Amino acid sequence: MSDPAGLTARIFFALWPDAALRARLLEAQGRLHDNFGGRRMRPDTLHLTLLFVGAWPCEGLDELVQRAGEIRFPPLGLSLNRAECWPHNRIVSLVATDTDPAIAGLVGELKSRVHALGGVCERRPFTPHVTLLRHAQCGEPAPAIVPIHWTAQEFVLVESRLSSRGPDYRTLARWSAE
Ligand code: 2AM
Repeated sequence: MSDPAGLTARIFFALWPDAALRARLLEAQGRLHDNFGGRRMRPDTLHLTLLFVGAWPCEGLDELVQRAGEIRFPPLGLSLNRAECWPHNRIVSLVATDTDPAIAGLVGELKSRVHALGGVCERRPFTPHVTLLRHAQCGEPAPAIVPIHWTAQEFVLVESRLSSRGPDYRTLARWSAE
């Protein structure tokens, strides 16, 4: 969300699914909703966060985009192979426990660029996941799922603005794998 004066933007780096992958995520979302209820994430908002940056000065966005563009990375493979419901935040997500090491490498590169520009990032360890439901009733164990394989050819920088219908995301920049 931009601050009221519009001086900062709330931003994060992410992998964004294409239409085919989104369809598979929505299928899983429907099945998990049967188990856990909750509010479904809108189809256009589904993503996997690489690095949540938070409030960033708008006047420093160009520099961050330029620095992120220096990173070279291969296509990024991962397998969303578990469903989980987290009682602490009542999120149901698909979690990737099997990821190309290049993904952690990219996250590290992004973090060091954010730090170099004076930013502070999330300290929690990176848990690659796609949130499907919020305000869920976690209780019974999550069902086993058919793993969803994803080879991401690009990553994106996104601005999040909170609205009455939930977050609205706007892509600010994108970078392709080599
Ligand atoms: P979540 O889906 O697990 O909530 C935009 O908010 C994205 O950044 C979401 O994918 C969210 O993950 C992620 N994120 C990570 N850390 C966050 C934080 N401290 N505050 C808000 N969102 C965060």
